[in-house]
Amino acid sequence: MTDLATFIRGIPKAELHLHIEGSLEPEQMFALSRRNKVDIPFKSVEEVRAAYAFSNLQDFLDIYYQGANVLQTEEDFRDLALAYFSRLHADRGRHAEIFFDPETHTDRGLPFSVSIDGLLAGMKEAEASFGITSKLIMCFLRHLDETSSLQTLKAAEPYLDHIAGVGLDSSEKGHPPSKFARVFKAAKERGLKICAHAGEEGPPEYVHEALDILHVDRIDHGNRALEDAALTQRLVKEGMTLTVCPLSNLKLCVVMDLKDHPMKRMLQLGLKATCNSDDPAYFGGYLADNYIRTAEAVGLARDDIITLAKNSFTGSFLDPASVAKHVAAIDAYVEAN
Ligand code: ADE
Ligand code: ZN
Repeated sequence: MTDLATFIRGIPKAELHLHIEGSLEPEQMFALSRRNKVDIPFKSVEEVRAAYAFSNLQDFLDIYYQGANVLQTEEDFRDLALAYFSRLHADRGRHAEIFFDPETHTDRGLPFSVSIDGLLAGMKEAEASFGITSKLIMCFLRHLDETSSLQTLKAAEPYLDHIAGVGLDSSEKGHPPSKFARVFKAAKERGLKICAHAGEEGPPEYVHEALDILHVDRIDHGNRALEDAALTQRLVKEGMTLTVCPLSNLKLCVVMDLKDHPMKRMLQLGLKATCNSDDPAYFGGYLADNYIRTAEAVGLARDDIITLAKNSFTGSFLDPASVAKHVAAIDAYVEAN
């Protein structure tokens, strides 16, 4: 039988929590800063990496929004997406549902079409080159007001056939899901799937609001739901997918040591957890690294890995036939390894 890390690398998997702007590696940041003649406040790749020491979510977001300034053209967004998909391919990723933050780009003067057209081009090329399928999830920045999110939904109107869902990200504390009730209602009426970051830094109450007010299809993170036993039971009962991001949780001090990560506990409780990379260029690991380092730290067994990989497809927004095909591929892989 193969060792666990090799088994993890090879198992077919999907990524359900990935901010494409968070896959901007320092090398690519420098290349784009030169290509677009946009200044960045760093002299070297080493200096950038040294700046990636965060105490909390806001520390990270400040540097992450600054990094995004180098993205200027459709080609930049296409290149960004392709660089991510080639990493995902190396990790045996077969499908990804990627977040993007249009307001980060429209607020600095880029038309809405620049980011989305570039990303869609990269996604199409990744399917042709690697056979990786993908879907796009448009996130609203929760530190901005609701008017901005409503304008963003309006700008997305011509693209709705190419957008699978909407999400809610950025600074969680002080920006509860209820602040965005109207825009999420409008998104749902347009047939979009609903995701929201909740319970990363914010209290269990925000997870309740995501369920009861936004009517989410998935909770992004959800760690702090574990503080509320009744809420945890509800998430189990409803089979709610949680897109958990262990290395992100470590880097943003949601856990102080990976050994304290709740992934194993989540699985033992029967929660439908998945394993994801969030912002891999900033947090030190892509998809397979998140599985491997978490498995080592909290003692995930082979069966846990199989559960996580299956959850990544059954928790996706793929159609049932595609889900069944991927789950069968996992069963065949497990049989052979
Ligand atoms: N934007 C990018 N990564 C994020 C995270 N982990 N939480 C909230 N907003 C984000
Ligand atoms: Zn996230």
